[in-house]
Amino acid sequence: MKLILSRPDRLRKNPSIRALIRETRLSVEQIIRPIFVTSKSEKVEIPSMPGQFHFPLDKIEQTIENSLRLGINAVMLFGIPSSKDEWGSDTVNDLGIIQQTTRIIRKSFPDLIIFTDACFCQYTTHGHCGIIDSHGNIDRLKSLSQLQKLSISYADAGSDFISPSCMIDGMVKYIRESLDENGFEDRGILSYSAKFESAFYGPFREAADSSPQRGDRKKYQMDPCNIREAIKEAKLDEDEGADIIMIKPALPYLDVISKVKEKVLSPVAAYQVSGEYSMIKSASNHNWIDGDRSILESLLAIKRAGADIIITYFADDVYRLIDSLKK
Ligand code: PBG
Repeated sequence: MKLILSRPDRLRKNPSIRALIRETRLSVEQIIRPIFVTSKSEKVEIPSMPGQFHFPLDKIEQTIENSLRLGINAVMLFGIPSSKDEWGSDTVNDLGIIQQTTRIIRKSFPDLIIFTDACFCQYTTHGHCGIIDSHGNIDRLKSLSQLQKLSISYADAGSDFISPSCMIDGMVKYIRESLDENGFEDRGILSYSAKFESAFYGPFREAADSSPQRGDRKKYQMDPCNIREAIKEAKLDEDEGADIIMIKPALPYLDVISKVKEKVLSPVAAYQVSGEYSMIKSASNHNWIDGDRSILESLLAIKRAGADIIITYFADDVYRLIDSLKK
């Protein structure tokens, strides 16, 4: 009897056949570009994130125009405030850094999707993600009330999606209620549902000057060991009214992305965080790995795991990289 040998390589013969059977696709329409905005007047490169900058307000339109030309139509804004206090007051001030930036962007680019990160760590002197009590713990109710004020203020400035990243229980419910009560029923919530207590945020914390002055974030961010808890967090957020569920970081948590995708009906986003960016960037700057191929491979892996949307500092590279797949 003649043995029939299976030959999967018939489907790898040339670029057209490979494209024909490709199971995972990247598209610039599903990429969100994170942008750091500062109240200082100079555009400054972030040392721990080569190729990423703090943008002053008067340079923000130009950088967004570059991204638009590359097909990017969504940004996530992070503010570096001019001053900090115990309560993160800049976040609830109509002249705060995010409010000013959002107004500028909304006016110039009416169709751009604006996500605004909603957290307090870079706005508070203690560096924690909420208002803290005398024991140094997050005061949940005070923080949630501050989060409601922040949300209304960001929405009023023109934010499309409030994106709470503080991991305070009830954050989605409280934000939804305050948006609805203040005439912002049309604004959405992207929730950082499963945000792990991760070393991969290191470069961001340097960039945003947001490290906790004392202690760590283990009492509110998730233990990297847990996946069932991540599903629980995602479901809770969905029940509380989140429109988009996010997992963060991305590459070390592909299993979480995949499982959460099975369990929720909302779109799932993944955040390829600063440490993931800087690892690829520094290794490729040394020619230890091929930068473009590594970026592409990492983004495809995140998609393959089930992410619909990816937040990535490589946003402006995606257009070019999709093109390179044709070869
Ligand atoms: C704010 C926030 C952080 C990141 C996004 N929002 C930092 C943190 O939780 O310490 C990290 C993003 C990145 O590393 O790229 N809480």
